[in-house]
Amino acid sequence: MPSAPESRYVAEAPSNIAFIKYWGKRSEESQWPANASLSMTLERCRTRTCARRNPAGDDVVSLNGSPLPRTDPRAVRIQKHLDFLRRTGGFSGALAIETENTFPEGCGIASSASGFAALTLAAVANWSGSRTLDDLAERGFDRTRLAHWSRMGSGSSCRSLWGGYVAWHPGESPEEQLVEPFPAEWALSDVIVVVSAEEKPVSSREAHRAAWTSPLFRPRLAGISEKWEKLSQALRTRELGELGPLLEQEALEMHGVIMSASPATRYLPPRTIEVLEWLRRQRALGRLEAYFTLDAGPNVHAICRRDAAVYVRDAIARAFPETRQMIDETGTGPRLKADLADTDPKGL
Ligand code: PMV
Repeated sequence: MPSAPESRYVAEAPSNIAFIKYWGKRSEESQWPANASLSMTLERCRTRTCARRNPAGDDVVSLNGSPLPRTDPRAVRIQKHLDFLRRTGGFSGALAIETENTFPEGCGIASSASGFAALTLAAVANWSGSRTLDDLAERGFDRTRLAHWSRMGSGSSCRSLWGGYVAWHPGESPEEQLVEPFPAEWALSDVIVVVSAEEKPVSSREAHRAAWTSPLFRPRLAGISEKWEKLSQALRTRELGELGPLLEQEALEMHGVIMSASPATRYLPPRTIEVLEWLRRQRALGRLEAYFTLDAGPNVHAICRRDAAVYVRDAIARAFPETRQMIDETGTGPRLKADLADTDPKGL
């Protein structure tokens, strides 16, 4: 049942921070990752995307209230994903997409995970006339299916379809990939330290491609299952002292691959290294218990117990007053709302 042009389908999808990183692909075409990854869904860092029909004909995109020119690389990527969704799901109809991040713009926090999850949810909800996540599932678009569609836009976005912790397994073929909630009940905090808000010098797409040229990459892949065992055990038993060192080693291992690949990329400026060293020193001195992880960028995620988050944030703010900090935590997953043209327009 196609929706009326005025109907708005609004999806809010969270970002996620990987504890075991997705780095490198077996196939770029089918977005088949080289290794299994495991992430914590965030609560506050979200993308909110509204999809309406655009009877005028073409898909149009606006970001944070400003229309994007059709040739803008972000609009092109969104357009490509909408075309993929229409082709794969048998949908039709151009959309007007309005998207915004609930976290401050230009702060260097990757938004592609939350962005593509929100885009996939809002667009499919609109085309299928689904008001809620349950409606979507009833019409044959459950989260597992949508996660697979979403990863075609951005790999890590497939883990943003659920709250808590989420695993993405490569399987034996691209079709056998599995994305599923990981059974751990542990609310942790993530104190995000924005060291730089500048755009990355090299996109993660390009850096993924180079992974295989690093002499560290194959040894990394060989060690993933052992790491998975240890890390999942620490998550299940909620032992931060076990989990933390694994998080740090994993983040540095990914950056080791990135820095030793050809072409080599370095996402970590000296200031980031100073924050990492400082965190370790504070821990050794018994002043705080937080462990770092990193995305493919310069910003630090300090993972700690929830009751320690404000203390950790304040200590970082004092030591690195030029950085910006945000406290996030284990999240509840995506949300979907519909404001249908034939019902209460103030429903949202
Ligand atoms: O989803 P992509 O293609 O932007 O890859 C990003 C991968 C990392 O964020 C660096 C790690 C991860 O698993 O999220």
